[in-house]
Amino acid sequence: MDLILANRALVDHHAPPGGAGGPAPATGGLVEAVRPVLVPWDGAAGTTWIGAGRGPHDRAWTDDAGFELLETPAGPIRHQRLYLAEDDWRGHYAEVANGFFWPLLHLVRVDLPLKLAYYPTPEAPSDAAWSAYERVNRAFAGAALAASGEVCWVHDYQLALVPAMLREGGFRGRTGFFLHTPFPSLAVAESSLPPPARARFAAWLDGILGADLAGVQTEADADRLREAAERLCGARVEGPDLRLNGRLVRIAAFPAGIDADDLARQAPAGALPAAVPHDPALPLVVGLERADYTKGVPERLAAVSAAIAGGARFAYAGFSAPTRPGVPAYDALQAECERLASEASALAADRGLPFVQSREALAWSEVLALLREADVVFTASIADGMNLVPLQAVIAQSSRPAGERGVVLAGRDAGVSSAYAGFEDDGLVALDPLKPEASKRALLDALEGRPGRVSDRLVAAVRERDAHAWGRTFLGALDGA
Ligand code: G6P
Repeated sequence: MDLILANRALVDHHAPPGGAGGPAPATGGLVEAVRPVLVPWDGAAGTTWIGAGRGPHDRAWTDDAGFELLETPAGPIRHQRLYLAEDDWRGHYAEVANGFFWPLLHLVRVDLPLKLAYYPTPEAPSDAAWSAYERVNRAFAGAALAASGEVCWVHDYQLALVPAMLREGGFRGRTGFFLHTPFPSLAVAESSLPPPARARFAAWLDGILGADLAGVQTEADADRLREAAERLCGARVEGPDLRLNGRLVRIAAFPAGIDADDLARQAPAGALPAAVPHDPALPLVVGLERADYTKGVPERLAAVSAAIAGGARFAYAGFSAPTRPGVPAYDALQAECERLASEASALAADRGLPFVQSREALAWSEVLALLREADVVFTASIADGMNLVPLQAVIAQSSRPAGERGVVLAGRDAGVSSAYAGFEDDGLVALDPLKPEASKRALLDALEGRPGRVSDRLVAAVRERDAHAWGRTFLGALDGA
């Protein structure tokens, strides 16, 4: 039996059994990447997903130990929810995971809190919050030890202490860890890592190094991880791997993918959201993401304004899905987006161009329709583990004839840009969202289909490197670790 450990449950229950409204599936890159690798539960074997019980009606669905069998399109999935004390969740999730690690992990090339007024400074966690983080990680490790299994695959920065805890607890199977975010550069993050914060970061990395295999998205992430492990944890680099306390920890890059077949099946059917103005005479520029300060939404809006001011003519539709309610660091981003969106909107109105920028979660069918119909899919992550939206866009576009497809833009520090380096002429173009003039230029070129539209070669590559291949490669490497 295999265990998947992720901070979030696969779905949250928003209604009691028999009540109206189905469960709400978790959204975001982690679940998109992991969902396709789950093995249905046949009564004795399959995947068991362990995640926090955060849905308002979760308890009514689970037994006393938090277990339930979830019916999913892929078959029944065995699921265990951990019910955590509210104080522990707040310290663990709001303070440690989102107040410290999330902004810190994205500091790969630029000291973003210095550069961008809306980007939060990673706050060194208080002792109380760090204890909560440890308790939550211990609860996950305890559940995995009790379930036992041949393989335990731990996901992301919220659960980094679990691999070492499993080792201490005598877990008999193999432990893999995967970081869905970037791994930061110590040099760039220097000012965010004064002594107390640095010690927390070192403890976090020590936890990860309890795994047999630690995977990251790109080779550059793997390099930065090795360097930090040498400097902070006393590990020795041996080829691609790390030696620590007499043990070898495998380190490798596994660029995440999407469920391309599933998306290709669904993409042709959906209809555009009603709010999107349809003007067949104008090309459509689309922006889609979680409303996160790593996604470059203000930078995209600025580029859109600059292009319109320069005389470019296009319709624009941007949708940012609300994320992490209650985490205060998101307020400054919201204010900046509103300011830039109202500027761009006024400019567009003045030129008679359709413009919508909305903070809302769309139906999946609407997301697919936007990605399919766009002439330019303009993602602009300032830093990102992978960013699956450009890959989803490529597959959605593939339902159109090759000559009529659009161009997909992605931030240069998103994993997708290094994983697909060499596909610029095939419709996936990297841009630097921190350079306004270059971003505007990239948008203008993309509107002209330059340097090339989404090609069959790119579509084939995205299909080949899909989520199933990602899961197989990771688990294969863990088997050999
Ligand atoms: C996105 C990121 C993941 C992260 C997840 C957490 O999916 O790509 O790296 O683990 O968000 O989301 P949450 O809503 O639980 O904070």
